[in-house]
Amino acid sequence: MSERFTVRVGAPGADAAPDLWGLFIEDLNDALDGGLNAELTRNGDFEFNEADREGWHALTGWTVEGSGTVEVRTDDPVHPNNSHYVRLTGPLTLVNEGWDGIAVAPGRKFLLSLFARSSENQRLTAVIGSAAVPLAGSEVFVESIEWAREEMELGTGMPGRGSLRIEVPAFAVVDLDCVSLRPLGADGEPLTFRPDLLAALQELKPSFIRFPGGCLAHGYGLDNMYHWKRTIGPRHEREQIRNTWGYHQSRQIGYVEYFELCLATGATPIPIVAAGVCCQNSPGGPHPIPESEMDAYLQDVLDLVEFANGGTDTAWGARRAELGHPEPFGMRYLGIGNEDQITDDFRDRYGRIEDAVRAAHPEITVIGTSGPQPAGPDYEAGWAFVRERGTPMVDEHGYLNPRWFHQNTDRYESYDPAEAKVYIGEYAARSNTVRSALAEAAYMIGLERRPEVVRLASYAPLLARVGHTQWVPDLIYFTADEVLPSASYHVQQMFGTERGERVHAVELEGVQGEPVTLPEAGTALLRSDRATVAFTGLVLDGNPLPDAVTAPGGEGVLLGGIDPRDTDLEFTAVRRDGEEGFLVRLGPEAPGSHLDVVVGGWQNKSTVVIRGDDGITSDDHGPLPYPGVRTGEPVRVRIRTQGPRVRVWVDGELRHDYEQDLRPEQRVVAGAFSRGDGEYVVRLVNATATARTAAVELPGDPGPVTAAVRLLAGAGPDEGRPHEASPVAPADSRVEGDSGFDLELPPWSFATAVVQRSG
Ligand code: AHR
Repeated sequence: MSERFTVRVGAPGADAAPDLWGLFIEDLNDALDGGLNAELTRNGDFEFNEADREGWHALTGWTVEGSGTVEVRTDDPVHPNNSHYVRLTGPLTLVNEGWDGIAVAPGRKFLLSLFARSSENQRLTAVIGSAAVPLAGSEVFVESIEWAREEMELGTGMPGRGSLRIEVPAFAVVDLDCVSLRPLGADGEPLTFRPDLLAALQELKPSFIRFPGGCLAHGYGLDNMYHWKRTIGPRHEREQIRNTWGYHQSRQIGYVEYFELCLATGATPIPIVAAGVCCQNSPGGPHPIPESEMDAYLQDVLDLVEFANGGTDTAWGARRAELGHPEPFGMRYLGIGNEDQITDDFRDRYGRIEDAVRAAHPEITVIGTSGPQPAGPDYEAGWAFVRERGTPMVDEHGYLNPRWFHQNTDRYESYDPAEAKVYIGEYAARSNTVRSALAEAAYMIGLERRPEVVRLASYAPLLARVGHTQWVPDLIYFTADEVLPSASYHVQQMFGTERGERVHAVELEGVQGEPVTLPEAGTALLRSDRATVAFTGLVLDGNPLPDAVTAPGGEGVLLGGIDPRDTDLEFTAVRRDGEEGFLVRLGPEAPGSHLDVVVGGWQNKSTVVIRGDDGITSDDHGPLPYPGVRTGEPVRVRIRTQGPRVRVWVDGELRHDYEQDLRPEQRVVAGAFSRGDGEYVVRLVNATATARTAAVELPGDPGPVTAAVRLLAGAGPDEGRPHEASPVAPADSRVEGDSGFDLELPPWSFATAVVQRSG
């Protein structure tokens, strides 16, 4: 039985935001090295090191077979930025497995290139496969006593996954560096981007691409900041540094490749440059670029604009041409900073960069930053700063649970269009379930309906290699030879591929928001994920309780039943050993709604109240900076809930005092847009367990119409997991009607209908 409701499409309003849907690319989760970067050799430059990750070294990624020797050397390297190489003395085979194996398929060809030198002519053999089963192979001749680049094609063999095996004969002594194995494209040239991942990005039809992050843009410490000039030119000359996500940045996808990716996807670039300070989470905090280096940094930012857009008669435009691109890249936006804390240093450095860019390039829309969350102190300070400066656009981020998205479909209605426009630079509904994908779709309809304020939006993170993630959820998972799009990917694609030009008013009749209520009964539980913690002086709702001890990662200690709407809990906690602090869970067990009060969370740097609904959590209040829980030092905590109000005292200080958001969730959401060709684009989300029929009424009595419907449906709300392909994929159908049409929306579904007059 389907419930019927009416979607009345009204008068046209504002023009849609033309660049609204785009991509966020950061080398996180092996998204670039090991992912979009078509390079198949892992650590081909022998530059991995202990600073990238504990235990890593120049030979990480390589193994050696045979009785010969491998010596890592740094004297007289190929280039100072590529300071390590290996001296191989045969007989041996140097083996590189790439990232979980190198995929070979019939018809696929590869280019192996490397730098080598030897005092005598040598013949190496390069094979993809295993010792027993070579899948493709070729020979490499080393005939130079100086470093020389050698290249050879590896022919196609059988399908499978293998390793790159470089065989050095007995007694041969060869120096080797910059080993690269890339698939060849149809034009016979080595590929820059892995083709299946590139195709997945192209299919999203992005209007823009943000790069290089994210946290990567401002870096973990000043020496980790992203400087674009160090990422162009010959690959082996680029500066390679630690990836802030705990691996290595080869910079093989540097700024030129980024711009090329924009060309390949039809997107406009949105580079994000550091605002002259490194990440606030860096050791010692957000250090500013020293005054003595600021002028050079400012010049670098201006040069980036010239590099992207300048004529070939400018210094950096000429450099771009030298690198193969005489035509400008058409950059129109520039982001300054990423989620930075608004400190005095930030204000100073950011202000100078924004002023310089706006003075020299009024054609560029500068984007400021407003913290990691869509509320709270950083958000407020970021917005106040942007208002004060008259910055034209601001970057808001939000990784929240689906409930938040359904409560915020009209978030931007209250924003003043006369103020800075908004770029939602990072957002995700914190799981790979259908529930999250539909919550994002509902929210995106809200963004689309408010072009006077919201101009750009990009889901984050975009790419993640299975088994190599530092962050979930992600939009597209992949292995060596598979692309696994999430349900959210299909949502993004449905928005990206069919867009309207003018927003129309929409009236819904016959559906209501879903009320949000507080759970009436639950339990209080103590837990410590990484420490042993002793709890004494426990008093729950006026009743003293026995002392308790929680073990690291254990299930925790259940204190008893509570009414989560009226709970009063006090205790003293002493960490006996381990790291970080502890948490108190109030509420029903997952997947119901609960609150986690965390003291000493996230590197022991914060207190935060987290809320979980349907098993998906997000920060509800905070995180607020906290000096940390110390072994042996008592921490007195009181938590008091009264209806939606939550208060948390730590050592007598009231740190959290807020009301839980009880606004209804908009689970049935519609948007309508028209475009020049007389078509309408109608979007509908049904994030409920009820099948519904939407009776869509179009304005102006257009007569008989046909709607091409793309529907994402067919799985329960909790289906869909990280590292797997979506449990649902869009399906196409057509419906007809007169001045409107009926659209069947199964439970937990999202549809986009493109409507034309029939005939
Ligand atoms: O998208 C992952 C990270 O989330 C980004 O690097 C950062 O900006 C945010 O905190």
